[in-house]
Amino acid sequence: MKMLNVTINGITTKVREGTTVMEAAAELGIDIPALCYLKGVNEVGSCRICVVEVKGARTLQASCVLPVSEGMEVQTESPSVVTARKEILKLILANHPNDCLTCNKAGECKLQEYAYRYGVKFEEHQGKRKELGIDTSNPYIYRDNDKCILCGRCVSMCAKVPERSVLAFGNRGFETTVIADNNKTMGESDCVSCARCISVCPVGALMDSRAMNIGRIWELQRENVKCAACESGCDFELIKKNGKVVAVRALAAGEGRPLCLKGRLTVDLTYNDNPKAPLVKKDGEFVEATWAEALGLEKILGKM
Ligand code: FES
Repeated sequence: MKMLNVTINGITTKVREGTTVMEAAAELGIDIPALCYLKGVNEVGSCRICVVEVKGARTLQASCVLPVSEGMEVQTESPSVVTARKEILKLILANHPNDCLTCNKAGECKLQEYAYRYGVKFEEHQGKRKELGIDTSNPYIYRDNDKCILCGRCVSMCAKVPERSVLAFGNRGFETTVIADNNKTMGESDCVSCARCISVCPVGALMDSRAMNIGRIWELQRENVKCAACESGCDFELIKKNGKVVAVRALAAGEGRPLCLKGRLTVDLTYNDNPKAPLVKKDGEFVEATWAEALGLEKILGKM
């Protein structure tokens, strides 16, 4: 394998031919922000938050899709790079709900992370705003299209699910949005709730409905587990509150391996605290009951 010399922020290293500038920087411990990029899933270079300055290049370059060339010299946080990133963040925030205080993604949102990193705040915006609303028609997927930054990760990930491609870009220009099955709700669409889209969304546009309002991520305990449904052994994370599993979520989707619905359901059923006995409603409250009671068989069984 041919090796190439590259200098990033003054540090020279050797990388394999075909390595991108973003990957080379990561090998040196240099973090370049990324919103649309997800290795093996979405490598389209569309959001431009990852731009870097390359010596001799006329414009800033998207590092996520830029292969290293021999002797390349790169700056990842030069004044022009920082200015560009701030402008990109300002443009995104101009059409993004200002509700980090109550958003369930706070603490894990990439947009929030980068706005903090570059000191970009919400500003009064006089122009047109998108008002697409929240879709809660799918019991597992909470979809807030007003928070969508059109990175395309969910669209690319959904396209990897055999016979799905439920999510796609719809409309044009300012009206561009992510739609499900030619503009149906998620509940009406052919979505099978595999939740891969949730695992790759960098912002609060797609979230686990069952994990809404259970607490801030820093208040919850997290534990990594492997799925045992097949030999792939995909990585999942159990989210616990006071020792009780309150959510299960996929971790490995960003590493090119498409997680399956079978795996998610298997882990869900294995670890989620399911009731130990059937529940029946009495005086407006769910209480534990016997199976005979739950199935209305008490009288029949009593006569036997
Ligand atoms: Fe590189 Fe979006 S992360 S263009």
